[in-house]
Amino acid sequence: MANLEIGGIDCRNLAAVSGTPLLVYDEEKIETQFAAATENFKSQEFDTEVVYAAKAFSCTAIFEKAQQAGAGLDVVSGGELYCARQAGVDMKKVYFHGNNKSTEELEMALKLGCGTIVLDNDMECERLITLSEREKISIDVLLRVNPGIEAHTHEYIQTSGSDSKFGISIKKTEQIQSLAQKVLDSSYVNFKGFHSHIGSQITETEGFEKALEIMISFISDMKQQGVPAEVLSIGGGFGIRYTEEDQPIPLGEMAARLARICEKQLAEKNLQLKKLIMEPGRSIVGEAGYSLYKVGFSKDTDTKHFLFVDGGMSDNIRPALYQAKYSCDIATRMGEAKDKTYCVAGKNCESGDILIQEAQLPSSAAEGDLLVIYAAGAYGYSMASNYNRAGRPEVVFVKKGKARRVLKRETYQDQLRLETDEQLIF
Ligand SMILES: Cc1ncc(COP(=O)(O)O)c(C=O)c1O
Repeated sequence: MANLEIGGIDCRNLAAVSGTPLLVYDEEKIETQFAAATENFKSQEFDTEVVYAAKAFSCTAIFEKAQQAGAGLDVVSGGELYCARQAGVDMKKVYFHGNNKSTEELEMALKLGCGTIVLDNDMECERLITLSEREKISIDVLLRVNPGIEAHTHEYIQTSGSDSKFGISIKKTEQIQSLAQKVLDSSYVNFKGFHSHIGSQITETEGFEKALEIMISFISDMKQQGVPAEVLSIGGGFGIRYTEEDQPIPLGEMAARLARICEKQLAEKNLQLKKLIMEPGRSIVGEAGYSLYKVGFSKDTDTKHFLFVDGGMSDNIRPALYQAKYSCDIATRMGEAKDKTYCVAGKNCESGDILIQEAQLPSSAAEGDLLVIYAAGAYGYSMASNYNRAGRPEVVFVKKGKARRVLKRETYQDQLRLETDEQLIF
């Protein structure tokens, strides 16, 4: 009976020191993914930039790793902006996204020297122009447009219109032109180009190819209308391997292919671009993350063998939210025959709190064993909640046999620190 090792450390030791549920990141895997993107997303024709999408997993330690890798940062809130600043990130490399940034967040972005705001709508554009004039602070902007492509896993569809809450439909050329003109006429906001993001967990290049074709053709049309774009961001959404059903194109290959596709499309349109941007999130941190849980009770029903673990939807809502699939092992029984089908369920008070509906595991699995869920590094911790007053798990980074705690376990006391009883004065 062998134990799983992560980054050269026996998971029993990790759980003994840090407790469970525990999120463990293999730092070398994160570094490999950053390098795969930055080294392959290159072109002789234009500059390129890899921008890490913080929403996948955000904390000071991962922001530092992004910075070390030379990547920029995509943030979507004042909280992520603040964390970036505290992590010592070069704010010029920060892209601030979001469909409903508050006035306070826009002011904060200006004052912190955020490099680029990705504008979502007309009202935001006007607000930013007003604020930048008031503060006399310059800022670059990209405008998020919706190319009418929706891509998920290996399928993409071209939609006729756009009802997305993000960005402006590419079909609304007059609206886009007039927004861009406002920016071009303003003194402190610099129009740089366009942004599009077509979906998530995309494992093929087809959807991106179509999106690039549409976006480059659009940029060419816009140029003729007096709107010069020099930067194009194609967003994120690069798929990872959650289960053996997923066969994603490796990130490095995807990055290289996107650069080639862009070069080809530009040549066909006889167009030049200064910079192409990609925004991977999941593909940087997803497979590097391992969720370790302690196995508790088990229970048989008429149709299921439940195996309960000491976490659940409060630390990983993805299976309950959109039936996301994962693979797992009993980390303390590696190599044993997987001769029983279990339903791995969490301890949160919801029937839907099932982490894996059908997992093949050793029938010897018992209370006190550790269960590992693989590829748990993206959109798990960042979407974690305190449902049932569950504390968010501890997070450790491991590398070459060494481990460091980067996020402490949230205690009962931590959760009570916001409680108060104050009279409100009006
Ligand atoms: C604008 C934008 N960029 C990048 C990403 C990152 O996507 P992923 O983590 O799937 O690469 C997202 C995810 O929602 C996004 O909305």
